Amino acid sequence: MANTSKSIALSIIFLLSSISCVLSQQENKFLNHGFLGANLLTFGSSKIHQSGLLELTNTSMRQIGQAFHGFPIPFLNPNSSNSVSFSTSFVFAITPGPTTPGHGLSFVISPSMDFSGAFPSNYLGLFNTSTNGNSSNRILAVEFDTVQSVEMNDIDDNHVGIDVNGVISIESASAAYFDDREAKNISLRLASGKPIRVWIEYNATEMMLNVTLAPLDRPKPNLPLLSRKLNLSGIVSEEHFVGFSAATGTVTSSHFVLGWSFSIEGKASDFDITKLPSLPVPPPPLSPSPSPPVSVKKKSSNMKLIIIIATAATFVILFLIFLAVCVFRRRENFTGGARKFSHQTISSATGGFDNSKLLGERNSGSFYKGQLAPTEIIAVKRITCSTRQQKTTLIAEIDAISKIKQRNLVNLHGYCRKGNEIYLVYEYVPNGSLDRFLFNNDRPVLTWVDRFRIIKGIASALQHLHGEVQKPLIHGNVKASNVLLDEELNARLGDYGQGSRHSTTGHVAPELVNTGKATLETDVFEFGVLLMEIVCGRRAIEPTKEPVEISLVNWMLRGVKSGNLLRRCDKRIKKKDLVSEEVSLVLKTGLLCVRRSPEARPMMKKVLEYLNGTESLPHDDYVV
Ligand SMILES: *[C@@H]1O[C@H](CO)[C@@H](O)[C@H](O)[C@H]1NC(C)=O
Ligand SMILES: *[C@@H]1O[C@H](CO)[C@@H](O)[C@H](O)[C@H]1NC(C)=O
Ligand SMILES: *[C@@H]1O[C@H](CO)[C@@H](O)[C@H](O)[C@H]1NC(C)=O
Ligand SMILES: *[C@@H]1O[C@H](CO)[C@@H](O)[C@H](O)[C@H]1NC(C)=O
Ligand SMILES: *[C@@H]1O[C@H](CO)[C@@H](O)[C@H](O)[C@H]1NC(C)=O
Ligand SMILES: *[C@@H]1O[C@H](CO)[C@@H](O)[C@H](O)[C@H]1NC(C)=O
Ligand SMILES: *[C@@H]1O[C@H](CO)[C@@H](O)[C@H](O)[C@H]1NC(C)=O
Ligand SMILES: *[C@@H]1O[C@H](CO)[C@@H](O)[C@H](O)[C@H]1NC(C)=O
Repeated sequence: MANTSKSIALSIIFLLSSISCVLSQQENKFLNHGFLGANLLTFGSSKIHQSGLLELTNTSMRQIGQAFHGFPIPFLNPNSSNSVSFSTSFVFAITPGPTTPGHGLSFVISPSMDFSGAFPSNYLGLFNTSTNGNSSNRILAVEFDTVQSVEMNDIDDNHVGIDVNGVISIESASAAYFDDREAKNISLRLASGKPIRVWIEYNATEMMLNVTLAPLDRPKPNLPLLSRKLNLSGIVSEEHFVGFSAATGTVTSSHFVLGWSFSIEGKASDFDITKLPSLPVPPPPLSPSPSPPVSVKKKSSNMKLIIIIATAATFVILFLIFLAVCVFRRRENFTGGARKFSHQTISSATGGFDNSKLLGERNSGSFYKGQLAPTEIIAVKRITCSTRQQKTTLIAEIDAISKIKQRNLVNLHGYCRKGNEIYLVYEYVPNGSLDRFLFNNDRPVLTWVDRFRIIKGIASALQHLHGEVQKPLIHGNVKASNVLLDEELNARLGDYGQGSRHSTTGHVAPELVNTGKATLETDVFEFGVLLMEIVCGRRAIEPTKEPVEISLVNWMLRGVKSGNLLRRCDKRIKKKDLVSEEVSLVLKTGLLCVRRSPEARPMMKKVLEYLNGTESLPHDDYVV
């Protein structure tokens, strides 16, 4: 369909909030604090900030931004003619642009994510003049509208409305919440820039839709703002998508969503408010306000402040000196097994870090090819440390990683330090990184035999890092560009043990989003995703594909359910070379690795046993 030709920009942060459980049929319940690890597809002006905050629009004019949960929701009850009950809660914030705010945000239940013909402004990015009000739209929306549009019968410029198939609301009310203690309504400014929490609940037995809102710091009011009888089964279908849409016009606002919880047949989970991302600090007012007259009192409090700052500064300085002494000591004690190279040696080996020797730039460092002796070729990673902390951490880790030797790891020979630069000297691996073989067409196609061997190689490298012989070391960044291939196309996993870095976009294990901390289990997760990429010859996220194929992991899950796993293989592999049992084994192992719950993922030792066939896969319910 025209999905790929849609002119709107399409970007994704995918993830496995969805793989809630590989074994379950579909995901009917989710809770996202921020959207970094969420299975969310974003369209138009939508983007996800590094903090996890979802921005649907900024304050530019006539924008449309949407974001949808990656899986459709089965809204029809298979046991009756009714729809299912649902409950959702989310936290949004609307920060107006320079003038009055516009236009608003809505929660949407829609049969499709394609709104390419829709208008911004008062159509909220959902409808246009010809589709507005047409019952074949099958769209339910709850709008938070900040502009009074007379042609849409809007009651005011700060209202909440229930919209069925069009933006003329079937029910609406001025934004307010019920204060239980004082038993009265308190009005609420939607575009105040402050976070507002919303609850939307539908009971299919009663056929009642309730909409309740309150400032984020308030508990849920006992009475909803809107309560409307509605037969949802006339609107929804077996597969409807849920998400948000926002639009600006000639008046504009930034529209944000901070968190989202959803559940079918049951109450949506509550947020842990402390886990929600914070909103960007609003820009300072354009005209500086005149400085207030300085009173005597003010002066004395200023003086107090100066004293406090001075005292604090002294402490900080003393602490830094103390720290420096510790670091110095530690360095002196550094007697690790790593060979120390002189800068002179490394510089001449790489021709003075000549551009012609540059292998590439990756993971906060540049790689150079160098020659130490006629037969000793090396790869040098040059890292410029921006902070002393970074440097100390790195040096401490060199000790640990230089002791690790394994044939599927890129081994570290030694290091060198000069000024704020650290050079890591690795063995040179001739065939370059795996991502070029998988995703580019400028390298020979890897056969199935190659791929299976590479997968097992990476697995044994990771298992080794995870503590076969030494203290467990977390890789923190398992991905195709960190796997190199040697002359015989064996996998050599590189770039391990350099602080707890991890990617913040792409395929992050769900718990990473909350904790921000790489673990053995997040490594297993990343390995699972990589394994699928190797078999399928595509990246985990490919925004230009058909919606069901955008997320590789989601697509794989569908494949396993329909018994179609084999057809997901890289089309470039010759059919006759495929060993279907092996492909199926590898992919099912991958699905186990990307399970949402870290405890449910196998350890690398187990993974290797599955892949080597010395242990059989757990009962494979997920084929059903
Ligand atoms: C809004 O986002 C677009 C695209 O990212 C950018 O070009 C534009 O400058 C932004 N507008 C504002 C007001 O920040
Ligand atoms: C439908 O019926 C089955 C079997 O009685 C039950 O397990 C399932 O939960 C029901 N589904 C819904 C949505 O009520
Ligand atoms: C409204 O949207 C529909 C469906 O996307 C599209 O076919 C139609 O051309 C649009 N109408 C207008 C007036 O833009
Ligand atoms: C509603 O939309 C359908 C499908 O797009 C179209 O066939 C029908 O003519 C429209 N109805 C009206 C009243 O515009
Ligand atoms: C509060 O608002 C609701 C919805 O608009 C209304 O039904 C109710 O009567 C109001 N209650 C009071 C005490 O004003
Ligand atoms: C909706 O609100 C009413 C109170 O106004 C309550 O009796 C009813 O149970 C609520 N329904 C849902 C689905 O929350
Ligand atoms: C819906 O309402 C019925 C009758 O009031 C109640 O028994 C049932 O528990 C409610 N369902 C949900 C999901 O709230
Ligand atoms: C609700 O709508 C569905 C589908 O349009 C219909 O089959 C059902 O009878 C309706 N229920 C009621 C109570 O009107």
